[in-house]
Amino acid sequence: MSPYAHITGWGMAVPEHILTNDDLAQRIDTSDEWITSRTGIHQRHIASRDQTTASLAVQASIHALESAGLSPGELDLIIVSTSSPEYLFPATACLVQDRLGASKAGAFDLLAACSGFIYALIISTQSIRSGDIQNALIIGSETLSRMVNWKDRNTSVLFGDGAGAFVLQAQEERGGIISSVMRSDGSGGDLLILPAGGSAMPASPETVLNHQHYVQMNGREVFRFASRVMAQATEEVVKKVQLTMDDVHLVIPHQANQRIIESALKSLNLPIERCMINLDRYGNTSTASIPIATCEAIQQGRLKPGDNVVFVGFGAGLTWGAALAVWSGLIPGAPKHVLPLHFKLYARLQSIIRRFLRHIDALIWGRHNPPI
Ligand code: COA
Repeated sequence: MSPYAHITGWGMAVPEHILTNDDLAQRIDTSDEWITSRTGIHQRHIASRDQTTASLAVQASIHALESAGLSPGELDLIIVSTSSPEYLFPATACLVQDRLGASKAGAFDLLAACSGFIYALIISTQSIRSGDIQNALIIGSETLSRMVNWKDRNTSVLFGDGAGAFVLQAQEERGGIISSVMRSDGSGGDLLILPAGGSAMPASPETVLNHQHYVQMNGREVFRFASRVMAQATEEVVKKVQLTMDDVHLVIPHQANQRIIESALKSLNLPIERCMINLDRYGNTSTASIPIATCEAIQQGRLKPGDNVVFVGFGAGLTWGAALAVWSGLIPGAPKHVLPLHFKLYARLQSIIRRFLRHIDALIWGRHNPPI
């Protein structure tokens, strides 16, 4: 029988610096009243100069590994979902793998915008259910503040920085992710886009002058799309396992806009008490929003073992998806002596040794081989 993929660890990390709506109103033509009434957002966290997508991802991962009682060396797979990677390549996931010292893990980035964490959840579940791997770490991490035009009031008021992570582990008993849907519609790709810097429009002085390295969005169209697919995907994932909305204890949606969430809840006929909302304090942290909201739901005691929880997201692409989990909670008896912070130091040492050995290897190789 194929094992189930249980969520056994979780963690989040947000930058200390808070940018309020009033702060924004001092820079651009907007107001706290406008932002709050249209989006529900009051403030967002913004990365400092020395914080990046990888550093936030590592922080969130360490908390997730600590709660699961799993050492980085036991990980088989690391997926970083992000739209603000450190580089086009190498993958941010490989930087995270190195900084954690997860020497047995494959690592790659996943780009499905704000739906990315749902996609990562589904892909890692499928890898575990196939029997191919035992332990996966999935992370949603963003520093979109670096890709937003701070003079554009249409977009700059929406986004915030942060990271959230889950550990998934194979276990025989039924639980974890039991139903999922992934969807896309590329015909809406232009509705939310960062146009320049890829192969279609390589970076040039013109692209910089024309502000084409910033997020561009058709807010109204995205709003309409999101309100529709959130409810559809939630219903679909619930029906797939012969449940009804009455069986769902908590919905944890992508935290983009309070009005989008309320419109989806109305279609689902679900009371707001059964939905986790924390976008007022973080803004839209894109792919990080669902794991961050999950961590806070746990802190608030809103999830207990055995609960049915639906994660649902949407984003650029267009992409959307949902996953239904039977909440596992912490594994009883999981080792508590795991100190990933130690692994972080050990990982740095391991990385230095590997670089040094590569250097020695190159010297030896050069002696025995003609120059290329
Ligand atoms: N402050 C003040 N006024 C603003 C503003 C701001 N930050 N941003 C836009 N406006 C103005 C517009 O310029 C427009 O003025 P005009 O009528 O004089 O042209 C007016 O407000 C209405 O703009 P509109 O875009 O129609 O507002 P809206 O009610 O659709 O709300 C969004 C805008 C962005 C809040 C809303 O469309 C939205 O949330 N869309 C979804 C975005 C999203 O979630 N993206 C991420 C997906 S993962």
